Amino acid sequence: MSWNSFGRVFRFTTWGESHGPALGAVVDGCPPGLPLGEADIQPWLDKRRPGTSRFTTQRQEPDRVRILSGVFEGKTTGTPISLSIENVDQRSKDYSEVALAYRPGHADYAYDAKYGFRDYRGGGRSSARETAARVAAGAVARIAIPEVRIRGYLVELGGDRIDPAAFDAAQIDANPFFCPDAAAAARWEEIMDRTRKAGSSVGAVVECVAEGVPAGWGAPLYAKLDSELASAMMSINAVKGVEIGDGFEAARLTGERNADPMRPGPDGKPVFLANHAGGIAGGIATGQPVVVRVALKPTSSILTPVETITREGEASDIRTKGRHDPCVGIRAVPVVEAMMALVLADQKLLHRAQTGR
Ligand SMILES: Cc1cc2nc3c(=O)[nH]c(=O)nc-3n(C[C@H](O)[C@H](O)[C@H](O)COP(=O)(O)O)c2cc1C
Repeated sequence: MSWNSFGRVFRFTTWGESHGPALGAVVDGCPPGLPLGEADIQPWLDKRRPGTSRFTTQRQEPDRVRILSGVFEGKTTGTPISLSIENVDQRSKDYSEVALAYRPGHADYAYDAKYGFRDYRGGGRSSARETAARVAAGAVARIAIPEVRIRGYLVELGGDRIDPAAFDAAQIDANPFFCPDAAAAARWEEIMDRTRKAGSSVGAVVECVAEGVPAGWGAPLYAKLDSELASAMMSINAVKGVEIGDGFEAARLTGERNADPMRPGPDGKPVFLANHAGGIAGGIATGQPVVVRVALKPTSSILTPVETITREGEASDIRTKGRHDPCVGIRAVPVVEAMMALVLADQKLLHRAQTGR
């Protein structure tokens, strides 16, 4: 099996490698008649683009998207929407050491073990260049769910957390970390400068909130909205943990503290007094904000030498040169948002298919 596709009704497939001529996505199942142009996709790619601050990889990719099919006279036709993004700044010689020895923590050994052969240039298909294609597909998904507002941000970097009391949504786009706490963003600059100078890397936690998700989207049991989101987020490179709502913290609460009390609200709908559940109960959206947190490990390609073995099985150590993100969590924010949009677009169409609403 190849596993390059995600979704059931609103389904996308990504293709391409880090150092190939281009990469992209094919989105199938998008409803017809939705207004869509390249200008609807480009701003999301610009958010994910490398080289926009000294805290991300210096690879310079304009990431210009082209719509090759599925749109006519500015509207989706209901046929596959093919999206293409050129790779223009490959430097394959930067990766010669990766051809000979495995980067611990990266996919080099695992790919060789599975396929017996790998495109080592820039990590090939295991490179997070692939996430540009998801972000493009996610922009199409957003068009299909205009009732939903999605916002991602970093809540932790290098073990340093934001102060929830200092949360200011206006800050998120005002610093290079998508950080909603100005004081934390200032601390993170120092952490990142120190980390880069040490030839090291750090991890991060992304939080993503979707507001406006109607009560009823989702499904019980084997396609719980929780599990669809977890699967989507876990499919992102370097993600090692996913929490819905309070997540692991819920295991430390009592029943009464973990409850989301309900009061009568307008139109017979409840008003919830808390949201420990992260907007999902029984696998189905409750109408509250859907809240997901995603833990990303530190970048494995670092300048500090790490013990490894060569392709021939000889003991060695590896220092990864080339251009890398010292904290992959920063550029993961738009990717997490895209996966949230893609899951919710699929859930909207699945809900409509079953209930007619
Ligand atoms: C936005 C983003 C950028 C990334 N950039 C790098 C990078 O520059 N260098 C690196 O070694 N890993 C990077 N990664 C992580 C690797 O792609 C990932 O660790 C690798 O594919 C192995 O997969 P796994 O970590 O999911 O097991 C990045 C991940 C994301 C989400």
